[in-house]
Amino acid sequence: MERTDYQRILREIRREIEPFAREGRAADYIPALAEVDPDQFGICIRTIDGRIYGLERADARFSIQSITKVFSLAMCLWLEGDALWRRVGREPSGTAFNSLIQLEVERGVPRNPFINAGAIVLADVLLRHLDDPEGRFLSFVRALSGNDALDYDDRVARSEREKGYLNAAIANLLKYHGNLHGDIERVLRLYFLQCSVAMSCRDLACAFGAFADHRTPFRFDGVSLTASQVKRINAIMQTCGFYDEAGEFSFLVGLPGKSGVGGGIVAVYPQKYSVAVWSPRLNTKGNSVMGMKALELLTTRTEESIF
Ligand code: DON
Repeated sequence: MERTDYQRILREIRREIEPFAREGRAADYIPALAEVDPDQFGICIRTIDGRIYGLERADARFSIQSITKVFSLAMCLWLEGDALWRRVGREPSGTAFNSLIQLEVERGVPRNPFINAGAIVLADVLLRHLDDPEGRFLSFVRALSGNDALDYDDRVARSEREKGYLNAAIANLLKYHGNLHGDIERVLRLYFLQCSVAMSCRDLACAFGAFADHRTPFRFDGVSLTASQVKRINAIMQTCGFYDEAGEFSFLVGLPGKSGVGGGIVAVYPQKYSVAVWSPRLNTKGNSVMGMKALELLTTRTEESIF
């Protein structure tokens, strides 16, 4: 059987993206993220048969931020099944991840689970069903990635809360429209803590192996999903994983994926591999410049496409 030489391809990609190394800026609206050295790069591929290919800072942990929204969605689909779609949509937003405009016009029903408003509703769902949502969320992420040492970064969570005016406004709007049952401060505490999870590219590539391989039963820490639910999570990553840049990511990379303002991006190639890349400098849409470039080159060089 022919095997793609991913390690060689990663080395070539790294050389090719060097001209973009100083493009973009690290997120600073969360003060703790502004302290991270912006000139770092890591990437890791995990094939569905478990082979790992990493480069540079593949084992460095960083704040995965919105990538955690995929984990929340998995837990909420397990808890609520299709009833979840009464409270959150599954259409691309075409707006920024923290936009309030659509939420007002659409009367408190977020367009999808991957914008902040949608993920705040997911946090409310977790709070409603679970006695210890913080503990349960973390143990699920640890089980998915196979790394028991993963943890929240309290400092990042507190730093975000201190400046989290926009997310507080979103939570208030949700509450006003009757789409938030819990106490606003309590829901936001869970949301900010979830976003603060620190993981490496290797941890992420391993965790998303479960989404790349929907044929193997999804059962982690008691959370179970059907193959159809896993495929649908991938579908939402494809259409909504990059906010107002979802079309561009689909056009350039062509894989379901999810980004975070910590500079991480994960993508899955169903039945082939999961890949995570990290570089803190972001473009104006909040997505990693080097990360987008690296993944564009990965699917171009390998000539493997889901389309
Ligand atoms: O709520 C926020 O603004 C952050 N905790 C997460 C945003 C994020 O990662 C958007 N990603 N590109």
